[in-house]
Amino acid sequence: MAINLRGRSFLKLLDYTPEEIRYLLDLAKDLKKAKRIGQANEVLKGKNVVLLFEKDSTRTRCAFEVGAMDLGMGTTYLGPSGSQMGKKESIKDTARVLGRMYDGIEYRGFSQEIVEDLAKYSKVPVWNGLTNEFHPTQVLADLLTIEEKFGNLKGLNFVYLGDARNNMGNSLMVGCAKMGINFTACAPKDLFPAKELVDKCREIARENECTITLTEDAEKGIKNADVVYTDVWVSMGEPDEVWESRLKLLKSYQVNKELMNNANHDAIFMHCLPSFHDLNTKIGKQIGEKFGITEMEVTDEVFESKQSVVFDEAENRMHTIKAVMLATLGV
Ligand code: CP
Ligand code: NVA
Repeated sequence: MAINLRGRSFLKLLDYTPEEIRYLLDLAKDLKKAKRIGQANEVLKGKNVVLLFEKDSTRTRCAFEVGAMDLGMGTTYLGPSGSQMGKKESIKDTARVLGRMYDGIEYRGFSQEIVEDLAKYSKVPVWNGLTNEFHPTQVLADLLTIEEKFGNLKGLNFVYLGDARNNMGNSLMVGCAKMGINFTACAPKDLFPAKELVDKCREIARENECTITLTEDAEKGIKNADVVYTDVWVSMGEPDEVWESRLKLLKSYQVNKELMNNANHDAIFMHCLPSFHDLNTKIGKQIGEKFGITEMEVTDEVFESKQSVVFDEAENRMHTIKAVMLATLGV
């Protein structure tokens, strides 16, 4: 059956079928190839998109801006300050205003409910650029990167270590279940994803002939891994007070050489970035000095190793986000 995503929002992967995700990945591959050979693709000339960021971003913002410009569209960036949204104007009213001026809306911020409401009231496609619960455009880039490295997705073993109930843990579990990838989360019980989402993903995984496993044992969990993935231990929007307990909880889930040696010999290392793999950042330095550590979720050795594909992953944010905009805005 032909896939048509025109007019759809991209709010979470749960809303998309495996065939629709496959369509977006294939479109991203085509757009990546076209860009490499300098083929102009300004097929959405005359359209405009607005990019709402209530939290910081490098990759997501740049991917939306470059993707939109490559497609010939105009962009407006609205940051955490400077607009009326949420202060003098409700999300519902903001959505109705923006929907009158723009063809599509990107939102990065807090609760999933906000991005769902933007889609409900704006009547134009809305794209989730990260909420507390989900980060679906990141997972599209991750799937594309994995497929580029292994030539396929189905049947691979994917292992996530760290805060498994954050936006990345949740979204990767859904993405793997949808695409037939065996997903294992290694985390302390307190940081396991919510039972309701795990149950839903197990149901989806059954349909796609793969498994969802949760374990507290990192050494065992990483065995036979094709893909080893981690994310920051404290996410944007969480209070500073959680650092101390989070460092204690997640210390034994750090992706280091010793742990990587338990994965398959050709396993790749992935991270959505930004990453605390050294002390060359303001926050990394502060936390490092306060708690006497030099690296957090991944060691610099693994981050810089041949197994690490983190910058391919970062580049693929742009190609996949461009595919989402093109597919949903249509021509
Ligand atoms: N991975 C990711 O979303 O990066 P940014 O926070 O830089 O957008
Ligand atoms: N879990 C991280 C992802 C950043 C891309 C955060 O929300 O800060």
